[in-house]
Amino acid sequence: RAKEGVSAEPNSGSFLPSCLSLRKAAVNFCNLSTKFINDAIMNNDFLNKLEPQHMNQMVDCMFENVYTEGQLVIREGEPGNYLYVLSEGLLEVIQNGKLLGEMHAGTAFGELAILYNCKRTATVKALSEAHIWALDRQMFQTIMRQTTQARHEEYFSFLRSVSLLQGLPEQKLAKIVDCLEVDYFEKGEYIIREGEEGNTFFIISKGEVIVTQSTEASAEPQEIKTLGVGDYFGEKALISEDVRSANIICNKNGTHCLVVDRENFNQMVGTYEELQSYLKEYQMIKLHKCIKNGTINIFL
Ligand code: CMP
Repeated sequence: RAKEGVSAEPNSGSFLPSCLSLRKAAVNFCNLSTKFINDAIMNNDFLNKLEPQHMNQMVDCMFENVYTEGQLVIREGEPGNYLYVLSEGLLEVIQNGKLLGEMHAGTAFGELAILYNCKRTATVKALSEAHIWALDRQMFQTIMRQTTQARHEEYFSFLRSVSLLQGLPEQKLAKIVDCLEVDYFEKGEYIIREGEEGNTFFIISKGEVIVTQSTEASAEPQEIKTLGVGDYFGEKALISEDVRSANIICNKNGTHCLVVDRENFNQMVGTYEELQSYLKEYQMIKLHKCIKNGTINIFL
C-alpha cells in the first residue's frame, strides 16, 4: 500500500528490474492481451493518433503489476513515470480532493504527464484489486523517437517517388514530411466531395481511389479515372480556396493517404506557386551543372 510521503510510482526504469516475475508475464503475452491493450490505447483520445507500429512496440514492452484495494497508482502533482492500461478491477480518479470519475478495465491512463511532460494532473486509486499494465516513460519516449525517425525516412523516400515532388531538394522534402499526417479510408468512403470547400492535399501511400465528376449530360457524377499509390489529389486546395472540382471516393479497404493542409504547406514549404517556380529553377540549376560537368551534352 502507498504510504504518506512515499511516491505512488517508482522512478522510471527502476520498477523493471524489481519486477522480473512480472517481466516474465510480459514475455508470455498472448494475442488477447495485445489486442486488449491496443484497443485501450485506441480508445484514449490522446493516444489514438499513434501509428500501429508504435502501438505494437509499446505493447511488447509493457508489464503487468497488481495493486491492492486502496493503493495509489498515481499521485496528483508528482512526476509521471509510467503510462498505464487497466486490465482488471476498478479505479477512481480524484483531482484536488474531488472525485472526477471511475475507470474500468480497458482504459489507458496516465498519458498526460508522459505526453506533455507535466506533473500528474490527478490521483488514481484502486477501488478493488487491480491488474494494470505499465509502460516505462523512457521506453515510451525511445519507441516514439525511433519510430518517428523510421517513419520520417520511410515517408521521405516515398515522397521522392511522387512526381510532383521528385525534383525537390532534401530540406524542402524533409519539411513536407514534418507536416504530414496520415488518414485511413475504407472502400466507398468519400474523401473529397465535389462542390465542398477544402484545404487539404492528399498523396496516396496505399490503396486506390476513384475520381468522379458531374457532367451536364447525366444526372449522376461520371467516373473519370482511378488513382493509386504515388498519385495525388486535392492539389488545387494548395493553390486557391476554390471548391472541390470532383469527388474522390476510396476504392480499396485500408487506403492510406498522406495529408498536408494549405496552412502547413504554405508555412513549411511556401505557396504552391513558389513550389512550382522553385522546382523549375532548381531543375534549371541542376541542368546547368550537368552541362558544365559534361554529364549531359546538348546539341542545339
Ligand atoms: P496524468 O495526468 O498523467 O495522470 C493522471 C491521469 O488521470 C491523467 O494522466 C489521465 O489519464 C487521468 N485523468 C485526468 N483527468 C481525468 C478526468 N477528468 N477523467 C478521467 N481521467 C482523468
